[in-house]
Amino acid sequence: MSAVHVLTRSLFPAALSLVLLAWTALHAQQAARAKEAIAHRGASAYRPEHTEAAYRLAMDQKVDFVEQDLGVTKDGQLICIHDDTLERTTNVATVFPDRSTTIALASRTPAKHWLVNDFTLAEIKRLDAGSWFKPEFAGARLLTFQDAIDLVRARPGFGMYPELKSPQLYKSRGIDQVKLFVDAVKKNGLERTDSLKKTPVIIQSFDEEAIHRVSVDLPAIPRVFLTSNDDDVAEPRLRALAKFATGIAPEKVVIARHPEMVARAHAAGLTVTSWTFRSDEKTEYADVAAEMSHFLYDLGIDALFTNNPDLFPRRAIRR
Ligand code: G3P
Ligand code: CA
Repeated sequence: MSAVHVLTRSLFPAALSLVLLAWTALHAQQAARAKEAIAHRGASAYRPEHTEAAYRLAMDQKVDFVEQDLGVTKDGQLICIHDDTLERTTNVATVFPDRSTTIALASRTPAKHWLVNDFTLAEIKRLDAGSWFKPEFAGARLLTFQDAIDLVRARPGFGMYPELKSPQLYKSRGIDQVKLFVDAVKKNGLERTDSLKKTPVIIQSFDEEAIHRVSVDLPAIPRVFLTSNDDDVAEPRLRALAKFATGIAPEKVVIARHPEMVARAHAAGLTVTSWTFRSDEKTEYADVAAEMSHFLYDLGIDALFTNNPDLFPRRAIRR
C-alpha cells in the first residue's frame, strides 16, 4: 500500500466527519434562522393596530417583519389600515357623521360605512386611531405607507410585509392599487439589492392577480399568496402557484387540516407562512407560544403572523 493511499484512508473518515458536522451546524442554523415572526398590524395585542406605537413596539420586541395592510385614500395615497372602512379603528363616525355610504361589504347586508377611499389623507390624518383600543392611546394617527417605510427603514435589520388589500374594490372605483404600490416601492428603491439586505420586504395578497403582477414588476421581492381555501394546498395548485409566488400563507386552520401540505409546498419551492397567532384567542394549546411552537417546530412552517411578537418562540428545530 502506498504512503499516499495510507494517508488518504486515515484522513478520509476525519474529513468526512468534519464536513458532516459543518453541514449539520449550517443546516440547523439555517433552519433556526428561517423561522420568522411577522408583527400582525404591528404589536397589535398591546398597541392600537397600524399606529406608530404598534410598529415601534414590534421592533422593540425584536420581530423580523412589521406588517402593513394597505388601503387607498380619495387622493390616491396608500395608507396602513386593515379594513376597507374607517369606523372600527377610528372616530370617523364622530368627526364626519354625514359622510357614510350605505354599501354591502364582503357579501354582508347593506349598512352605513365610512370607506377609506371616500376620505382624503388630510381628513384621515385628523382621526383618532387610538381611543377605540384604550383611552391612553387617544390621538394616535393612522400612518401612510411612506410613514411606515421611513419608520422601519430607520432601524436596519427589520423588514416590511405589505399586504395588497382589496385590489378588486379599488379597481371597481377606477384605481389601480397595485400600480400605486409598485410606484411607491420603486420611488423608495425598496426593491434594490442593497435596500433588501438592510430592509427585507415580502409582499402578500389574497388576490392572485396582484401577486402575479408584482412577480413581473418587482421580481426581486418575495411574494406570498394568502388563502383560507383548502383547494389551494393541493399539489397541482401549489405547483401552479410556485410559477409566480415564492410562498403560500394558508390560514392556520387549513394547515391543521392538511399538515402534509407543508412538505408539499416546500417540495414545490414555496415557503409556508400562517396566520394569525394571538394571545386573546382560546385554542386547544396551553398558550399562544405553545401554539406557535407546534406550527413552527412540529409542522415545519417557516414564518407566522402574530399579535404577540414578544412571545414568538425562537429555537433550533427539534429532530
Ligand atoms: O395578512 C395575513 C393576515 O394578516 C391575513 O389576515 O385579515 O388580518 O389581513 P388579515
Ligand atoms: Ca394582513
